[in-house]
Amino acid sequence: MSKAIYPGSFDPVTNGHLNIIERAAKTFDELIVCVMINAEKHPVFSSEERVELIRRVTKHIPNVTVTQSSGLLAEFAREQNCGVVVKGLRALSDFEHEFQMALINKKINPELDTMFLTASQKYTFLSSSVVKELAGYGADLTPFVPCEIIEDVRARAMRSE
Ligand code: PNS
Repeated sequence: MSKAIYPGSFDPVTNGHLNIIERAAKTFDELIVCVMINAEKHPVFSSEERVELIRRVTKHIPNVTVTQSSGLLAEFAREQNCGVVVKGLRALSDFEHEFQMALINKKINPELDTMFLTASQKYTFLSSSVVKELAGYGADLTPFVPCEIIEDVRARAMRSE
């Protein structure tokens, strides 16, 4: 049975993330979406909240499970007995960092390969940071995040003003 991990900070999950999840779930028998710590980011949603938001928007995909880990991705993959990490690439500018991460992860866990899916063209501009900024201005979030979580994102943007 083929298995892959899709890691990210998902603060919050966007339509771009969901597009990658749906496509990766068609490619692998099992897809583990894992909320992880990005040392460069300061999330506004807790890990538990992010897991819950992702579960809500992926409940139509039976082979997706959602979890969290505060450890290294390469170690998490080893624990899960999983040899593939899926990452989305929006632009060439994403590549340099992702390439470095893939090499570091391979160094820590030589069994681990990283596979890149190109983001759908309609989501290349989209990021969780853009979503949070737009939410802060009260903009319509319909094109950017799944409708099931729009209210949560809006409420959090108001709270953090
Ligand atoms: O959605 P993001 O913020 O681009 O995801 C990045 C993430 C969370 C996948 C990355 O920071 C990560 O792998 N974090 C776990 C800790 C780790 O393994 N770091 C890489 C080695 S320094």
